[in-house]
Amino acid sequence: MKHLLKMNDLTREELDHILDVAVRLKAAQKAGGTPPLLAGKSVALMFSKTSTRTRTSFEVGVFQLGGLGSYMNAATELQASRGEPLRDTARVLGRYYDCIVWRTYRQRDLEELAEYAGVPVINGLTDYAHPCQVLADLMTIREQRGPLEGQKLCFVGDGNNMANSLIVGGLLAGMRVTCVCPPAYRPAADVLLFAQRYGAAFELLHDPAAGVRDADVVVTAVWNNAGGDEAERRMRDFQGYQLTAPLLARARPGCMVLHCLPAHRGEEISNEVFEAHAGEIFTEAENRLHVQKAVLAILLAGQ
Ligand code: CP
Repeated sequence: MKHLLKMNDLTREELDHILDVAVRLKAAQKAGGTPPLLAGKSVALMFSKTSTRTRTSFEVGVFQLGGLGSYMNAATELQASRGEPLRDTARVLGRYYDCIVWRTYRQRDLEELAEYAGVPVINGLTDYAHPCQVLADLMTIREQRGPLEGQKLCFVGDGNNMANSLIVGGLLAGMRVTCVCPPAYRPAADVLLFAQRYGAAFELLHDPAAGVRDADVVVTAVWNNAGGDEAERRMRDFQGYQLTAPLLARARPGCMVLHCLPAHRGEEISNEVFEAHAGEIFTEAENRLHVQKAVLAILLAGQ
């Protein structure tokens, strides 16, 4: 593994290895601390968009591994925000830092950064993918529900970066994956092509009640980040897509519910369902820390 730009870049073996290292590092942290695997290493933490979990979990994770993490607000503080070409920023940061984490808008910009940086690049979320989040989701499912193979994961919501990454990650891990989204909010075409290789293990549906049937894990994410007319349109388009107790009654009894956060209670998830599954959801958030430490340890310290 040279970078972590999207789930499609990983092999099954690399995915399993990341999760195994994450479990080991989590146990070590709980037992007193992780070894200083990043001693003398520095990680650029570039954020062109707001973040709570991704920013803080990377900052704390790099610190716990004995390295230096430098947060930079790429939207207002870097010369890139005043027009310096991305490839120049990449070549400069690559000479100072051992790794770059970037949260940005377009996947193709992230790919360009990786092409020019000369050091490993990690996707902190783009329009196409959110691999760190999905690795944490898979870690949480495996930790709480056992081996991933054969479990049914159902994503209900917008066919966006989370859907793209869950479909690929879940199928790669041997899960059965159902994606339920309104017809106008389908996952990326290349992700659907990837999913075709898995035959009946993947379903794309538009009816949440049919999708969650017998699911072991139901996942959702915000589908209404817009304002004005777009927000009103989304509220109409996603009618019936809220995770509610009656909807989840169709899933397997005791099913797990995950949400990458932040949550809009009353939109994609009811307050009742959110609070009933808060233990799982906040363990999922915690596991961002452990799984990202694993990715860093693999990329930078040969774990
Ligand atoms: N889930 C997630 O990526 O959270 P943040 O937007 O707070 O980083």
